[in-house]
Amino acid sequence: MFSAQSGTHLTTDIRAEALAAPKSGITEVFTYGWGRPGLIPLWAGEGDMPTPAFITEATTRSLAAGETFYTPGRGIPEFRSAVARYMSNLYGQEFAPERFVCTIGGMHALQIAFRMALGAGDEFIVPSPAWPNFLGCGNVIGAVAVDVPMGLTNDGPNGRWFLDIERIAAAVGPKTRAIVINSPSNPTGWTATRAELEAVLALARKHGLWIIADEIYGQFVFDGSARAPSFHDVMDEDDRILFVQTFSKNWAMTGWRIGWLECHPSLVQTAENLIQYSSSGVATFLQRGAVAALDHGDSFLKHQIERAKIGGDIVCKALSSTGRVSFARPEGAFYLYFKVEGAKDSMAIAKRLIDEANVGLAPGSAFAKSEDAWLRLCFARKADDLVEASARLVKALA
Ligand SMILES: Cc1ncc(COP(=O)(O)O)c(C=O)c1O
Repeated sequence: MFSAQSGTHLTTDIRAEALAAPKSGITEVFTYGWGRPGLIPLWAGEGDMPTPAFITEATTRSLAAGETFYTPGRGIPEFRSAVARYMSNLYGQEFAPERFVCTIGGMHALQIAFRMALGAGDEFIVPSPAWPNFLGCGNVIGAVAVDVPMGLTNDGPNGRWFLDIERIAAAVGPKTRAIVINSPSNPTGWTATRAELEAVLALARKHGLWIIADEIYGQFVFDGSARAPSFHDVMDEDDRILFVQTFSKNWAMTGWRIGWLECHPSLVQTAENLIQYSSSGVATFLQRGAVAALDHGDSFLKHQIERAKIGGDIVCKALSSTGRVSFARPEGAFYLYFKVEGAKDSMAIAKRLIDEANVGLAPGSAFAKSEDAWLRLCFARKADDLVEASARLVKALA
């Protein structure tokens, strides 16, 4: 047994950066509501479908074949080639396998990117609302997040989030080293226009900043196009851009923990060194499953996107009918970020909605300091669940 005081001297001795790692606001609601019978969980950023069999079978075959040894830190050649093929098809330009490094999910790619671009005391700009891990990822290495609020044209469903480039430019100071751009965005669904990406790139070039580009929801767009605008459309080979990618969302592989970092080939050795001293690589059998996802996962991904589109329509229509909720309709990703009129404490409302509607949502306070009337709902789920969840939410919010 530990006494109540046990360990207090240890927490004062640990590094300040480690202690500063914030607790996730999403975890708090998750812990509050977890295990309640009949709860519809729309709080996390994942869908309800398990990984398809053609992917898991590739992994099982690899395990059965004894591929259980240490693996090259940057990824097996077959993995890097499969990513290059996938990227070349998607972006209509030639990608060399030498640009890609296998990581433990998007989160690890992000961590490597941060370690490559930033150190203690450096500042990085994050347009907010933002996925909280950008801030946390910087904080643990002693870098300082400067969040710059995004603009919102109006609160109606025809409104649009946009990058306030002048505010971003004004936030650049002598310590700024990087800008994080996540498009399509978690949580808002904002999807950068080509002009917005060009403006960020111009600013980054002017000040010699790194861009950390998180384009993991790049194919989850709802305007009929095959993908969102990307920095790949506007960049030159030598631009300072580090791309974060993952298998988690496209192919329902959140629990696998596999993704990739994309960078100029001249940086790959450095990325691999950082991998050596963190995870020392990703299991070969997981990479085999990932190759199957890249090579044969197109129709599954199309199905997921179609489902998300239907899901988005269901929740947007239902919540607008309350008259108490406002939002800009999501252009991409699979979240509805909405404001509850008159609300002052998003954590309290998220808990109330668990108690009264048995629906789990994420509080806006997890994504921005001052967003306390906002909630995030993940609509990557089957229509029946979303119809039921919306009906319960409408009743509880009315
Ligand atoms: C914007 C964004 N980037 C990166 C990630 C990380 O993905 P992974 O689960 O592969 O670590 C997420 C997951 O929610 C995300 O929303």
